[in-house]
Amino acid sequence: MTGIVAITGIAGGIAAATAAAFHREGWSVAGVDVVEPPSTTPLVAFARLDLGQASAGDDLAAFLATLAGLDALVNAAARQGIDRIEAMPVTAWDEVMDANARGTFLAMQAAYPYLRRSRGAVVNVASVHAFATSAGAAPYAASKGAIVALTRAAAIEWAPDVRVNAVAPGAVDTKMLRQGVQRWASPEGVDAELDRLAARTPLGRIGRPEEIAEAILFLADGRRSSFITGQALVADGGALARLSTE
Ligand SMILES: NC(=O)c1ccc[n+]([C@@H]2O[C@H](COP(=O)([O-])OP(=O)(O)OC[C@H]3O[C@@H](n4cnc5c(N)ncnc54)[C@H](O)[C@@H]3O)[C@@H](O)[C@H]2O)c1
Repeated sequence: MTGIVAITGIAGGIAAATAAAFHREGWSVAGVDVVEPPSTTPLVAFARLDLGQASAGDDLAAFLATLAGLDALVNAAARQGIDRIEAMPVTAWDEVMDANARGTFLAMQAAYPYLRRSRGAVVNVASVHAFATSAGAAPYAASKGAIVALTRAAAIEWAPDVRVNAVAPGAVDTKMLRQGVQRWASPEGVDAELDRLAARTPLGRIGRPEEIAEAILFLADGRRSSFITGQALVADGGALARLSTE
């Protein structure tokens, strides 16, 4: 199957690899982000917009109306919050929840009329933080848990026309991971911390953006995943499978 896919957070590491994977399969890729993507990203259209704004749904709807149709929506835009709960200003909570959870909701709303017509698919990028988390990541974890629950709810409401699934990555080598690790990295630095993280992962390494892109492509492609909806596919090198008390 090929068609037109819209990817949010297109300037990011996982979204860029996802754009390349869809392009390779013959899809046309449209992207949105708050920042410009690298010129190497294979895009037929780009809109600079902030999915954290309440107007994001209208802004995205106007952008989608300029496309020749829509067959899949990939919600990969997200930001991290790194405060402890007791010290967190409400604005910090809102910034993460608005960009990640509400932004995903608004993008899905804007895309629905097109996806119903094309009998298309939504793939939301959640995180292993929806299922297990670490101290200092409360709004991020809550937003990803909300995305998994929203995925399930939409899958039920939009069946049988639109399939809705999520991918829940573990640690993947992108700007977001490196910035996140920096907050607790030892003096040896981020690379040493990533090596330790890799050693604790059953598959013995951190994920590559291209590996998440393949999972996203699988769930978006109605020929490959035609009987799957409402699911969160964990792609984490086995990290969640291991008991943390082990
Ligand atoms: N890298 C990891 O280890 C990892 C693990 C689990 C889940 N994820 C998820 O994968 C997705 C992609 O992350 P990534 O690792 O490629 O990170 P990234 O930081 O490289 O990309 C995220 C992109 O989202 C964009 N963005 C942020 N807020 C936005 C907003 N309000 N409006 C529009 N765009 C916005 C950023 O500008 C950035 O380009 C995210 O949903 C992230 O939560 C990543």
